[in-house]
Amino acid sequence: MEKTVKIGFLGCGNVGGGVWRLLSGFSREIAHRTGLRFDVRRVLVRSLDKHRDLPAGVLTTRVEDVIDDPEISIVLEFLGGEEPAHQYITAALERGKTVVTANKVAFALHWHELQKAAKASGAGLYYEAAVCGAIPIIHTLEESLQANRIHYIYGIVNGTTNYILTRMSKEGAEYADVLKDAQRLGLAEPDPSSDVEGLDAAYKLSILASLAFHGRVPFENVYVEGITQVQAEDIRCGQELGYTLKLLAIAKRDGLKVETRVHPTFIKNDHPLANISGAFNAVFLNGHACGDMMFMGRGAGDLPTASAIVSDLVRAASAQKHLYPTFENELNPTVALQNNTDWRCAFYSRMLAQDRPGVLSRIAQTFADHGVSIAAMQQKGARAGGHVTLVFITHEASEQAMQQAILEITPDVATVESLLRVED
Ligand code: HSE
Repeated sequence: MEKTVKIGFLGCGNVGGGVWRLLSGFSREIAHRTGLRFDVRRVLVRSLDKHRDLPAGVLTTRVEDVIDDPEISIVLEFLGGEEPAHQYITAALERGKTVVTANKVAFALHWHELQKAAKASGAGLYYEAAVCGAIPIIHTLEESLQANRIHYIYGIVNGTTNYILTRMSKEGAEYADVLKDAQRLGLAEPDPSSDVEGLDAAYKLSILASLAFHGRVPFENVYVEGITQVQAEDIRCGQELGYTLKLLAIAKRDGLKVETRVHPTFIKNDHPLANISGAFNAVFLNGHACGDMMFMGRGAGDLPTASAIVSDLVRAASAQKHLYPTFENELNPTVALQNNTDWRCAFYSRMLAQDRPGVLSRIAQTFADHGVSIAAMQQKGARAGGHVTLVFITHEASEQAMQQAILEITPDVATVESLLRVED
């Protein structure tokens, strides 16, 4: 026997439109497989004139028409951003309505209170689409990998920056030129700051790390560096040494210490993540029982995101009892994961050095003074204006020691043009 579930939308932009189309075009298959039919009763929009393809009767500009409708049992939120989405999700949960959201910002910043509101009213809270679009990484971490202690996660979790870095690598083009072109093609937002400054990736990493390490990793604990300062010359020098540059979201756990960081990172050309090109996303992780695994797919776009949302919707409507992540999600948990601000990794640095005797040994000595050991060094090109370009790759060293060493390299020896991190 078929069951009809009445649902409401908060927002109907690109993603909401994709969900509407997927629900309309795939409803017979969903009903056949699950016995569920979804009836979209109300859709909150900003303006009633814009959405001519939706039946006029469902559109509303009043949020109360969605969250106060007693017949609507599941609310799908596509507004994005922190407010008013956070307020509306809370209000829906408090009224006992299950919420399916694609909103990583509201979720990463207010997970604790949203989950509390959901538990109090017995409603469900589903958020697969908030991280990496169509890739089912949330469900994988919540359920499929429960028998694992996850050691680390490396993710390419932002499609815009992966698209830009891929084109910079392939074409030798500069960041600003590729960004402009990506905006012209509609592949980067008119205001790209959240993507290119790494914030979008950091919200997603805080959610992934919390699930993977079974303890809340607040967004504020993620070290964030975007791609705005990346220079084509460094991508080229890295390629010559066998490395590809990616904006990686990295989470590692050692006992109770967790390091979470988002920054441009060189990885070896033969690392599986090095081949994830264009706007694709991927998550590479390691668990003590499953070993290495990689998940790859589309992290954005109307139908890929709708794929995750409609799957969550079916899961929510079929659940006998809603489940909540089983980790400590309190603001002040008794045993808290500690933020590790001094991680270890290898480094890449490009310098413009004075070309005279003793310069190389002074740089090497400064590194040595801080426990930084050089793994490879290249002197590039001819001398220009009394300077030569030097490229260093170090062995694994402490972040803070490396930063201190770089500060102590003075212009009479060399100017440090770039410092990037390297992961194996
Ligand atoms: N702006 C994101 C990206 C998609 O470029 O991957 C939504 O999270």
